[in-house]
Amino acid sequence: MKALRHLLSMDDLDRDDIDYLLDLTQRYVEVSERKIPRIPALRGKTVALVFYEDSTRTRISFATAASRLSADTLGFDVKRSSANKGESLRDTIETISAMGIHGIVLRHFGAGAPWRVCEWTDASVINGGDGRNQHPTQSLADLFTARQHLGELDGKRVAIVGDIKNSRVARSNAIGFAKMGAEVVFVAPQTLLPVSLEGWPVSVTHNLDEVVDEIDICYLLRMQLERQHDAPVPTMREFHHEFGLTAARADRLKEGALIMHPGPMNRDVEIAGEVADRPNAVITEQVANGVAVRMAVLFVLIGSRLDLVEESSLADQESAVA
Ligand code: CP
Repeated sequence: MKALRHLLSMDDLDRDDIDYLLDLTQRYVEVSERKIPRIPALRGKTVALVFYEDSTRTRISFATAASRLSADTLGFDVKRSSANKGESLRDTIETISAMGIHGIVLRHFGAGAPWRVCEWTDASVINGGDGRNQHPTQSLADLFTARQHLGELDGKRVAIVGDIKNSRVARSNAIGFAKMGAEVVFVAPQTLLPVSLEGWPVSVTHNLDEVVDEIDICYLLRMQLERQHDAPVPTMREFHHEFGLTAARADRLKEGALIMHPGPMNRDVEIAGEVADRPNAVITEQVANGVAVRMAVLFVLIGSRLDLVEESSLADQESAVA
């Protein structure tokens, strides 16, 4: 794949890059299944986890991925940091960078924040979610999980359903699935769609019942109440009735069709609680695969940087995927 210093958006990757990362992920899944799931690929490297928004999956899976590659992690708890005393993002990044780090995983409420951070550090920056904009490693975990079950994604039909307006996962996955040859349809009320979808590789419907029998993946999105400042739907009960994956709709999915969700879920809002636990719901597999995908991303960004490679670590690099 092409040399990549940062991963900020699914737009940074072409299909060959995605294929390379997913193939490498498969090798790291195998590493993760070993009795001692650790290789020396990033020994001596430090990754800072800088999270200005809450996270369970992304933060813990990056920490686990770094540990499995023998990298050290530097945690940054914004609630206990000098950001609380008014320190700017730039000063925070420059301070952390001065401690000698090689990678920064950034989650920030501001769309575009990771692009600014790249200007303030020599470390490789990975976007762990910026506002409503992008969440590329979630998309890679989803593509990997979908490919594991369905094979190549060319011609597969993917419905992304719910609060698309506020979802960085929807934006990353629209790009990711389309680059892998899938057809993406957004399913949402007008009030939960972005003002313009010009240039997006998607079609749109306001009726889940129109497409539910034909799709290969039903990808539900969390209702992001914390980002909704108006009332885009009358009630959650009504939203569930009109746009949720109810048991009746889940029964209509094709045989082999997958139910996906990035988590955290609002059970009985976007997805019926019982449906989330069905065998074709691969939600916990998405989480598990998130570790191996993030190992692949950390290795490709940090382990492949020639300016960071020392003579003594070349053997470690070569054994990274062995
Ligand atoms: N899917 C996802 O980004 O989850 P977290 O917010 O728990 O990281």
